Amino acid sequence: MLAFSMDSWSDLLSSYAFLQFLPAVLVLGQLLVSSSRALRKVSFASYGLSFHSRYAANVNFMTNAVGLIGNGYDKFQEKAFQFLRSDADIIVLPQSAVQELSTLPPNIADGTKALEHDLMGPYTGLNFILQSRLHHRIVQRKLTPNLGILTPHLEDELGKAVEDLFPKEVNDGWTEVELYPLLLSLTARTSARAFVGTSFCRDSRWLNSAVNFVEDLFRTVVILRAFPGWLHPIVCVFMPSYWRGKGYFRSARQVLGPYIQERLDALDQKKDLREAFTEPSALNWLVDIAEGDERNLARLAHTETVLSLAGIHTMLLRQLSVIYDLTAHPEYLEGLRQEVADLSSKWNKTSYGQLRKLDSFMRESQRLAPPTVLGLKRIMQQNYTLQDGTLLPKGAYVCVAAYAIENDPAFYPEPEKFDGLRSFTQGDGSDSNKHTFAATDTTVLGFGHGKTACPGRFFASLVIKMSVIKLITEYEFEFLPGKGRPKNWVAHEFLFASPWDRVRMRKREKGSCPF
Ligand code: HEM
Ligand SMILES: *[C@@H]1O[C@H](CO)[C@@H](O)[C@H](O)[C@H]1NC(C)=O
Ligand SMILES: *[C@@H]1O[C@H](CO)[C@@H](O)[C@H](O)[C@H]1NC(C)=O
Repeated sequence: MLAFSMDSWSDLLSSYAFLQFLPAVLVLGQLLVSSSRALRKVSFASYGLSFHSRYAANVNFMTNAVGLIGNGYDKFQEKAFQFLRSDADIIVLPQSAVQELSTLPPNIADGTKALEHDLMGPYTGLNFILQSRLHHRIVQRKLTPNLGILTPHLEDELGKAVEDLFPKEVNDGWTEVELYPLLLSLTARTSARAFVGTSFCRDSRWLNSAVNFVEDLFRTVVILRAFPGWLHPIVCVFMPSYWRGKGYFRSARQVLGPYIQERLDALDQKKDLREAFTEPSALNWLVDIAEGDERNLARLAHTETVLSLAGIHTMLLRQLSVIYDLTAHPEYLEGLRQEVADLSSKWNKTSYGQLRKLDSFMRESQRLAPPTVLGLKRIMQQNYTLQDGTLLPKGAYVCVAAYAIENDPAFYPEPEKFDGLRSFTQGDGSDSNKHTFAATDTTVLGFGHGKTACPGRFFASLVIKMSVIKLITEYEFEFLPGKGRPKNWVAHEFLFASPWDRVRMRKREKGSCPF
């Protein structure tokens, strides 16, 4: 379950000493009527206003989004409702609107704008994703269609990274580790092989800046969102993460720049390509598919930074959760290992598509601990009336209560129960992809749904499976004596895993990873 842990909040807050002024700011906020509203006000049945001010409502949301949205979902059922955040009036549409919302094109309901708004583009540098769709095109047109070609490269990098990072010897016995930073390094490096190729995937300048960029971005977002919008330009000045944030794009340009420039020139002059330029990697493909304005060093380097943002921590969270969930429910372990063993004598790149128990387990893990509890976030670009008559005015922020839907007993019997084979047993044994980890549906919303769903989900599925297979076939895990599954914590609509939790792992005697 999503448990909100006070420890993690105080850890976070203690690094921001100036926040001792937070109560004073909130009182001030109470006295002032919202003066700047980025998004348009709408009049639905407002929910979550147990306090009379927007800022108090925002604090309520910041610390208890799951409860707040869950109660609204139960109370309003088939109707839309609205709650307040400091930065927007959020309209939550009912589950029955998922299908329709998911088919609206971006000129009516724009998902990228909502993402940019949520991640505070003007303060985190992310506003540049509004300038082109390159970050989307590279994933959809290049990364996903080339997954088969990338598979041996990813396996190779993952294997090397595991050798560098994890305990090596069987007789080392149990070793206490912080799994979060280990899996973060593993994921950053493995995915970097596909994102930036062998020239940079072990380059610590690139890896550190990719990882730190995301962590600083979320520090900035989580803290700024605690304040009313008019204070953001003032508060940000006091935040180290805000200032560091400006450096990551610069460092992406410095690290990747010369390579990108050389490749741009090589293409223009139709020169023979040196070996690195022919590797399958998003960096090479980016230079190939960039058009017009996009063909400049800064844009291409920044797009690589966004791939890291979209990919690394989302995949880390899933791998970490899967290992924790398996350790908490060891009864699934043999079934998952057997599924791999059954394929291992004829293992090839298509084998990942046949691991339906693993798909099911990963999906259940994501159902109970998704990266965000809201889904299908959109900003309306024009007035639009849904089939049920709800008018969504231009400028409104709309979304659905993804976590509440995935924990609704009407769609998931005994939703509080972790059932690792939940979607596996729903499958009919056919080859249909309906129950895979990457599949979406009107009640399976971790990646969004429909045409606008996450384009990176097939890549994510492959990388997560690869690393889970490696970890469960070669290692064993257990929680520290007397401790259970480490808790996640929720700030605003985001879910984070704690980086400091420790578990024990040891190398298996008869470890048998098929690749
Ligand atoms: C388990 C891991 C991941 C999760 C849970 C996840 C989730 C999501 C969600 C919910 C969206 C928004 C969809 C919507 O608009 O409704 C999204 C968009 C996106 N994701 Fe993922 N994602 C994951 C991994 C990745 C990876 C590995 C990549 C890149 C290789 C990626 C690239 C993108 C891109 C480019 C977008 C579109 C952004 C835009 O609209 O401008 N994602 N993802
Ligand atoms: C992979 O192995 C399967 C059998 O498990 C086989 O049917 C398939 O043709 C192989 N694919 C490739 C690309 O080698
Ligand atoms: C959109 O709807 C609002 C009412 O919510 C109305 O005042 C406005 O004129 C409409 N705009 C357009 C372009 O139809």
